[in-house]
Amino acid sequence: MDAKTETTLNNIIIRPAQVGDTQAFRALRLEALQNHPEAFSSDFEMNVRHPPTYWEKRLRSLGKEDMLYFAAHDNNLIGMCGIYQGNSPKTWHNGNLWGVYVRPQWRGIKIAEALIQKCVEWGQKHGIKIYKLGVVATNLPAIRCYARCGFKVYGIEPQAIFYNDSMYDELLMAKTTGTD
Ligand SMILES: CC(C)(COP(=O)(O)OP(=O)(O)OC[C@H]1O[C@@H](n2cnc3c(N)ncnc32)[C@H](O)[C@@H]1OP(=O)(O)O)[C@@H](O)C(=O)NCCC(=O)NCCS
Repeated sequence: MDAKTETTLNNIIIRPAQVGDTQAFRALRLEALQNHPEAFSSDFEMNVRHPPTYWEKRLRSLGKEDMLYFAAHDNNLIGMCGIYQGNSPKTWHNGNLWGVYVRPQWRGIKIAEALIQKCVEWGQKHGIKIYKLGVVATNLPAIRCYARCGFKVYGIEPQAIFYNDSMYDELLMAKTTGTD
């Protein structure tokens, strides 16, 4: 790995995902989906059934149009954030953030902000001009984090998520580079 792609924050390393992270990636992602079912559109029950090769393939395919960053402490993954680029010449300038998650005992020290910053740095190298994400309208910790990172609300997706007999609206947030 190129050392320049790493950031260290109080002994926490923010770094790109590697194929060797497969098992830990699976565990971290499933923990996020299981513990925060209303925060993510992906579903725990669907994801837990994927074979190990699914998780490995996701990591192997990273680099060209998408990237995933982890926060790690003592070689343990404690947070993640992914980004994927629009897939046509007309949408390449869009970067979509997904899967933002920090393990509970590590929250409140701006690890998510550092992960998002890494995704933005990756986007800048790939011609991304605008970063977008969706966040459940009641998820105040996440909204506060995204606002601090320069994201602004540009719309609402009504009833984006249905879980446990409840509907959740999502705030659509975007951050443009160079203008904020
Ligand atoms: C949203 C999340 C990624 C933020 O990560 P983080 O690294 O803790 O982010 P920050 O340190 O910037 O804190 C963000 C907000 O969390 C709240 N917070 C602070 N300390 C906290 C703690 N110990 N535990 C929980 N939340 C805390 C605060 O509201 C803080 O905002 P503020 O500093 O402006 O008051 C994390 O809370 C998380 O993983 N949540 C569950 C999954 C989720 O909702 N993901 C987002 C999907 S869109």
